[in-house]
Amino acid sequence: MSIQSAPIQKKVTVKTIQARKGKEPITMLTAYDALFAGIFDGEVEMILVGDSLNMSFYGEADTLSATLEQMIYHTKAVCKGAKFPLIVFDMPFGTYTNSNQALESATRVFKETCAEAVKIEGGREKASIVKALSENGIAVISHIGLKPQSVRADGGYRVQGRSDEEAKSLIEDALALEEAGAFALLLEGMSAKVATEITKRVKIPTIGIGAGNGTDGQVLVWSDMFGFFEAFKPKFVKRYLNGAELIRKGLREYREDVKSRKFPDSEHSYQ
Ligand code: KIV
Repeated sequence: MSIQSAPIQKKVTVKTIQARKGKEPITMLTAYDALFAGIFDGEVEMILVGDSLNMSFYGEADTLSATLEQMIYHTKAVCKGAKFPLIVFDMPFGTYTNSNQALESATRVFKETCAEAVKIEGGREKASIVKALSENGIAVISHIGLKPQSVRADGGYRVQGRSDEEAKSLIEDALALEEAGAFALLLEGMSAKVATEITKRVKIPTIGIGAGNGTDGQVLVWSDMFGFFEAFKPKFVKRYLNGAELIRKGLREYREDVKSRKFPDSEHSYQ
């Protein structure tokens, strides 16, 4: 039996998300433009303008070269398309290396876009930055576990928290970031057992991606879940649509129609 939840017709705020802890699971999706943000509007509680766009839309090998300007440009577009979801801005690599820089970057984001929260990657070493942002009216989601912005330092993408030592360290990170004022945690690429344990130990909501089914919510990259990004498919991605195939099918029909002069017919022509 499939459960159909009603469209979300009320503005989702940071408080709405906080209140979801331990209750109805939260849905979050990436979006990078007004067109798709408009389609996602009312369907998910949160939209993340993720720096994953650097890979899926710009064709780069990782997220590291995304810039603040680029992310602001895309966030402005998302803001025009989506009315109801909480819009989260993904702070790009190198824009939050200390509290002053983080405040300067995030203040610019808040002034120039409709973003209502920022996401930053990093564990307890980033607690002072999370604190500085939160104390200055900038809501923060802390991203721990597999951190794509650390891929070069870590030598690749690796599932975290499989050893007791790593599990303990991730739990310590989660507690320190909660204490510093993060309003939610994003748990990426970690053992489901650790993500469930973190979710039990913190009072703030956890959103998982490749972190199992014990978190307070889930996030996916839209081009992965709808099958538009075909370069690779991580194990945790469930494809809800075969988007690239559907587009190729439509394109082939279009090509056939043009070549056989079936298109445009009288219905699609002016008299
Ligand atoms: O940039 C992004 O899309 C992300 C997701 C992997 C959560 O950070």
